[in-house]
Amino acid sequence: MSKYAFQQCINPKCAEKFDISETHHACPMCGELLDVRYDWNRRSIPKKLADFEKYWGERHVLQRMSGVWRFHDLMPFVPLEQCVTVGEGQTILQNAQGVAPFVGVQESKLFLQYEGLNPSGSFKDNGMAGAFTHGKLVGAKQAACASTGNTSASLAMYCAVTKLMNAVIFIGSGKIAYGKLSQALDYGARTVQIEGDFDDAMARVQEVSKQLGIYLVNSVNPFRLEGQKSIMFRVLEQLRWEPPDWIVVPGGNLGNSSAFGKAFIELHQLGLIKRVPRIAIINAAGANTLYRLFEKEGLRWNGGNYDRTLVQKFYADMSAEGRRASTIASAIEINRPVNLSKCLRALDFTKGVVREVSEQEMLDAKAQVGAGGFGCEPASAASVAGAKKLVAEGVIGRDERVVCVLTGHQLKDPDATVAYHGMDADLYEKYLKKRGVTSTPFANRPVTVPNNIGKIIEVLR
Ligand code: F0G
Repeated sequence: MSKYAFQQCINPKCAEKFDISETHHACPMCGELLDVRYDWNRRSIPKKLADFEKYWGERHVLQRMSGVWRFHDLMPFVPLEQCVTVGEGQTILQNAQGVAPFVGVQESKLFLQYEGLNPSGSFKDNGMAGAFTHGKLVGAKQAACASTGNTSASLAMYCAVTKLMNAVIFIGSGKIAYGKLSQALDYGARTVQIEGDFDDAMARVQEVSKQLGIYLVNSVNPFRLEGQKSIMFRVLEQLRWEPPDWIVVPGGNLGNSSAFGKAFIELHQLGLIKRVPRIAIINAAGANTLYRLFEKEGLRWNGGNYDRTLVQKFYADMSAEGRRASTIASAIEINRPVNLSKCLRALDFTKGVVREVSEQEMLDAKAQVGAGGFGCEPASAASVAGAKKLVAEGVIGRDERVVCVLTGHQLKDPDATVAYHGMDADLYEKYLKKRGVTSTPFANRPVTVPNNIGKIIEVLR
């Protein structure tokens, strides 16, 4: 057993511990998820968050340049020099004054965290840095994931850049935006299209990687979530270490929300924050398992003894009714989130809430984010649409500080954007009309003019 880091089952009735050098997708004893845990007493941790600023001056060290490993003290499962990085985590928290009126909070109170600015264009790189660091530790040569696109793009990029492993990706047939697929293909990932959706691909990749001994980098991998904690550390850093009132995040496989919850649990435990932000998780209405279980069925973490029978029955009914996830936000088109239990823990600790948003609400929010800053992909805009809803309900106050996490880059799914702005009638039909998006109030419509200087000038006057 390593000196201070270990893996542990999150089920309090099991709580089995495993060495850091082992690779598990779930607890071999009881099947629950595993955490990476630390015996903090055996490490020297910065006394206050501002002490992390000393690392800003050490950017000549590759790992200190990383926005993930700059916070290595809070995820020290291997020594710093062994941590894998491709330069992830250089992301921006924008005080989005242009978007605040849409959400309904005061202009100085809305912040957008642009995780699309990562090297592969999504927040996944934070986690991939963690997973690759562990994969390297255990000597993995092949890595696999099921994906709605961004995990596969990130995995493929880390393989291409580091040459540590080869990538195998499983995707649901026709269930991935082309921006993401093009990345995986370009970076050389072995790409397997499954006739089915993400939930099918996720089930198959777990079986295949177990049988073939391939290293799995989906968010059931606890080392991935360690890397994703850093998104919250960077948010705090950019707010000069003053926790916001709310973190709003899209919910798909629920890795991010789980990682954020763990980050706040640990920061609180270490005395590095006093006040814990509340987390709001936003489902697409067409993929709303968490919303239904948490808000409608009353499922709660309950000290780890959550109602597992209720969850099993929910999924059995889903299978019996043939219910499938369906949303334009393909990144979160997921009905069987693998991190459900950890997410319940995060909601419990942060007094969190869950909401669902419609396709219309998401796309309108996406257009506002684009007009107000760097833009995002449809799934990311769920956070902004959700924040707007929570302000309208009075759950989020107009004077509260709200951080919406924008998980993926605007260019990941240009079809959805072009369809919204009315550039292409076929795309409008395919993406919007069929999905009940009946108006595009924030469309920036292109104009068509004859190839004639007079006419062009007329249009621009
Ligand atoms: N936003 C984007 C852009 C995503 O790609 C994902 C997940 C999420 C939100 C949901 O995050 O799973 O942590 O709740 N994409 C995965 C993938 C499933 O395969 O790329 P979560």
